Amino acid sequence: MRTYPIPPYPNGWFRVAFSDEVPVNGVKPVKYFGRDLVIFRGEDRQARVMDAHCPHLGAHVGMGGKVVDNTIKCPYHGWRFDGSGTCVEVPFSSKIPPQAKLNAWPIVERNGVIFAHYHAEGFAPDFEIPDIPEYNSGQFAHGRTGRMIRAHIQETQENMIDTGHFNFIHHGFRECPKVVEWQEDGRHFRVALKALSEYGPFVSPATFSFDVYGVGLQVVHVEAKMSFVIVFVITPIDEESMDFRFMVLFKKSRFRIFSAIMQRVLMNRVMAEISEDIPVWENKTFPSRPVLAEQDRDLIRFRKWNHQFYSFPKPRAEQAASVPSERA
Ligand code: FES
Ligand SMILES: [Fe+2]
Repeated sequence: MRTYPIPPYPNGWFRVAFSDEVPVNGVKPVKYFGRDLVIFRGEDRQARVMDAHCPHLGAHVGMGGKVVDNTIKCPYHGWRFDGSGTCVEVPFSSKIPPQAKLNAWPIVERNGVIFAHYHAEGFAPDFEIPDIPEYNSGQFAHGRTGRMIRAHIQETQENMIDTGHFNFIHHGFRECPKVVEWQEDGRHFRVALKALSEYGPFVSPATFSFDVYGVGLQVVHVEAKMSFVIVFVITPIDEESMDFRFMVLFKKSRFRIFSAIMQRVLMNRVMAEISEDIPVWENKTFPSRPVLAEQDRDLIRFRKWNHQFYSFPKPRAEQAASVPSERA
């Protein structure tokens, strides 16, 4: 097992499902952050995300559980839990044990994605997932793809700002991209890169504008001969792997079939580019003291901004100071 100088899971919003994967009265078991989770949607159309194992005898409520009146009913003995995780019914019993609770995760559903909020210290969400106008306008053809990758999620986060790797590993870049915009705005980061992008025999200037919201969402506007939008939604599965998904949005034209084909071509192109990174990510280490060159300046600057999404373990002395003394 590889070790990393950063915790396995960053704090913030992360995709746990696409909206259409959880229809009304649907139940979906998933595994993220090394935990079994259940997602369900009631008649009220609200999605909920909770830890999956029933506090009674531990059944997985996402494996055979049913949605009843906006609650989920455990398949084993029928205990029911509402959206806050509170048990609202124990069949054949007049009393509900007060500890009968499932841990409910904060969620937000936006741009066709159900996001859940993870925080290692249990803090509430402190930033928002933005609406993506192109997704919500109905004027863009969109599709999605992705795969599991055996690497720390931080690898995908840093990929855009590691400008030195583009023209080495990626076939679609003629030269090292140049940073033309840099904006750190609380939990939101924006960087724009200019590059000569190559596609078959065509080489054209392209601008890639990345809007980064935590570690789980990147919205990329690509302005080139063919302009399009990529929405990356990436979630840690466990300490060694991530669920890497993305959507590609391409403006619809009068010729619907053309838009659909272009959307698919561009999505395959993005997947091909990512596939060039994957063997490196899956086999590299993450040195705590990397030997750096001048061109790595932006990466280091970005890491400092990105640091805010990790809860680092406190040094021992600090931990002891925060535990109240029994005599006090
Ligand atoms: S294990 Fe869930 S109701 Fe018994
Ligand atoms: Fe890359």
